[in-house]
Amino acid sequence: MQIHPSQSANIILSKIAEFKPKIGLILGSGLSSLANAITQQITFSYADLPGFPVSTVAGHPGQLVLGYLGEMPVACMQGRIHPYEGAPYSAFKTVIRTLKLIGCEILITTNASGSLREDVGPGQLMLITDHINLHPSNPLIGPNDEEFGPRFFAMDEAYDVKLRQRFRTVAHSLNIKLAEGVYLGIPGPNFETHAEIRAFKILGGEAVGMSTIPEVLVARHCGMRVAAVAAITNFAAGMGNEEITHEHTLHYGKLAATDMSRLMTSVLESLHRDPC
Ligand code: HPA
Repeated sequence: MQIHPSQSANIILSKIAEFKPKIGLILGSGLSSLANAITQQITFSYADLPGFPVSTVAGHPGQLVLGYLGEMPVACMQGRIHPYEGAPYSAFKTVIRTLKLIGCEILITTNASGSLREDVGPGQLMLITDHINLHPSNPLIGPNDEEFGPRFFAMDEAYDVKLRQRFRTVAHSLNIKLAEGVYLGIPGPNFETHAEIRAFKILGGEAVGMSTIPEVLVARHCGMRVAAVAAITNFAAGMGNEEITHEHTLHYGKLAATDMSRLMTSVLESLHRDPC
């Protein structure tokens, strides 16, 4: 049975008193160190939040950290769940709607991705401009939960135009090279065949990964604004010389994490000073 997100939200709200997070942050593979910069931390293990599947992947600690990044109040998922771990797609409704119910108006999500572009390599960041969904299911299949959003909803500009502009401006000011591109999402857990990567390029994919899209669908359904940044950890299968492994993902995820942390911290500072 689907667990209502108010169960987790109430547990969190009962412990955070006046604190109200404005931004939900999801940290992908190898990127969880950003949460260490959060001050006045209140931490919840996913195991203590009803309906939060516990992540089983190395590099995904599995806790929700509330507190301030700079001066911005955030709720940060240090590690996320993935469909390939066996979490049902419907679990994304519980997780994202919990963030919404505790006050988050914006979801900023990060991930590790393979690059389909020759000019964007391991260690670089790519701002996601749009996506192509090749997942076999969708968290929103089933009876519609009218209290969160309508049965049918648009995905035009799912990645918020104003937030993207802010990322661009901040990256420029920090001298961080921020590529932009379309994210193509597959369920995994296997990396792709060479033929699949050739096909994904023809489809218009510029980065490929196993996460993000289910979260973004639920967030857009309930009216949260979304921004997403991929840390490129490898050239996609058949494009580079190195074998693609999860260790490789974590290694290059950590390399990209420095720029990712600088970028996120400054974007949040900027949004705190001058909301858009
Ligand atoms: N493919 C799919 N998911 C990924 C990749 C990839 O090449 N790199 C990191 N996550």
